[in-house]
Amino acid sequence: MTLDASRRVVALVPAAGRGVRLGESTPKAFVPVGGSPMLARAVDGLIASGVVDRIVIMAPIEMIDAARQLLTAHAPAVGSLPVDVVAGGAERTDSVRAGMAAAPEATHFLVHDAARALTPPALIARVTAELTAGRHAVVPGIAVADTIKSVSAAGDVTGTPDRAGLRAIQTPQGFDAELLRAAYAVDLPVTDDAGLVEAFGATVRVIPGDPLAFKITDQLDLRLANALVAESAADEKAASAQVVPR
Ligand code: C5P
Repeated sequence: MTLDASRRVVALVPAAGRGVRLGESTPKAFVPVGGSPMLARAVDGLIASGVVDRIVIMAPIEMIDAARQLLTAHAPAVGSLPVDVVAGGAERTDSVRAGMAAAPEATHFLVHDAARALTPPALIARVTAELTAGRHAVVPGIAVADTIKSVSAAGDVTGTPDRAGLRAIQTPQGFDAELLRAAYAVDLPVTDDAGLVEAFGATVRVIPGDPLAFKITDQLDLRLANALVAESAADEKAASAQVVPR
């Protein structure tokens, strides 16, 4: 939580996607990873970062009550700061817009996908520290392992950008609240919030991301996330078994 009384860091959690690529019957944010819904894990990470004053979740309209219930049941730290659930929209940008409207007091926004359920709290703190240091737009990014090509609608390669200059962008994406509100006044088809801020003409700073902040999109990602949670639970069990009682 922030020490500066005039600063209000509000985390907006888009969780209103249908998760078509994941192919589960429930909306993606409500799919469990290691027994806890992705949304609850994402919220726990934001609270554990210690840098957020309030969380606003944007859920599918028919899942608002379910979201409130699952947070009570699965996110132990909920209650230590205000967590609200509002209705998301048809597109991700509509969901973020709804979240911003619910937080007029925000001086800074962290926009963090529920689908990045395993994001380390330290990454959330690093993005926020850059905002505190005076940057207006900060996103985490990691080097890309594959060669990326642009391809025409017909399937022909139209370009091969130098891989060294590319980053795969993650969340949380951090913004000065006034900048994000102004950038969102324009309606453009973008897949992340920084895209709107870039189109608005502002500089977006990329800081090192974390592989654990990967987005759970398809079944392979879900298997990986479940395996990582199981491995870390087994490590914790082994560590506590090694503690010698006094
Ligand atoms: O579709 P994609 O994987 O890019 O979604 C990223 C995040 O945005 C997910 O957490 C999803 O729930 C959220 N989303 C949303 N509203 C939409 C579409 C996606 O909140 N209409």
